Amino acid sequence: MVQFSLPQNSKILKGKYHKDKIGSNNLKKVNVYRWSPSSNENPRIDTFEVDLNECGPKVLDILFKIKNEIDPTLTFRRSCAHGVCGSCAMNVDGVNTLSCIKSHSDIKGELNIYPLPHLKVIKDLVGDLTTLYKQYESVEPWLKAKVGEKTSTEIKQSQEDRAKLDGYYECILCACCSTSCPSYWWNGDKYLGPAVLLQAYRWITDSRDEERKERLKKVADELKLYRCHTIMNCTNSCPKGLNPAKAIGSIKKMLASS
Ligand code: SF4
Ligand code: SF4
Ligand code: FES
Repeated sequence: MVQFSLPQNSKILKGKYHKDKIGSNNLKKVNVYRWSPSSNENPRIDTFEVDLNECGPKVLDILFKIKNEIDPTLTFRRSCAHGVCGSCAMNVDGVNTLSCIKSHSDIKGELNIYPLPHLKVIKDLVGDLTTLYKQYESVEPWLKAKVGEKTSTEIKQSQEDRAKLDGYYECILCACCSTSCPSYWWNGDKYLGPAVLLQAYRWITDSRDEERKERLKKVADELKLYRCHTIMNCTNSCPKGLNPAKAIGSIKKMLASS
């Protein structure tokens, strides 16, 4: 049988252990992935004993407590802290999610925090989303209507047409879905992935847009679209409860009937 082994410098090692210094009676052991491009060291897992008596309820609160009180070098992204910006997406206890809305009390025992899977790591919990943003740009995520009388005033939409955007416009591009998709793991440079395809569909289905045909033609590609094999990991991992697999299915259906 073929055996695969990671190169020596990518093996994850046991890191530092930060013991509680105040004698708290309510401790949580938190294991966090660490890697810095400025050191020649392997990635490692540091363990922090965190006092939950003085900590907010979310995983992001734990990360802030570690950064503010134990290790200021810990690096992670966040902005809104209310599940709106999508920047704090990471893998918490094996599931991609937004750390600002994930309660740490949901996780019994030790808490394991990693960056989103299968992205190049920039530092610690920050993954490189450059490819995903380029793919997002490629679907031209803005309204396309011919300049003229119609665009000099508000372009109206019926309530029924507006309702067709529900379940799509709420996407915050956190990338939890794309980084949980096996097809995107192996073909992420060519396959657009669930986040970008959901965004593509959001514009394809917008009644005000005048380039539906061109948009469909652009994604109708063996690699860009048809690498989706309906495994459904994407839908299961969306922290906003959206259904990217359904959006992809809708694009395929439109193409089949056009
Ligand atoms: S569909 Fe959900 S998981 Fe995917 S990018 Fe949008 S909000 Fe995030
Ligand atoms: S349904 Fe398609 S996009 Fe979603 S996880 Fe499966 S292969 Fe990926
Ligand atoms: S910090 Fe904005 S979604 Fe979590």
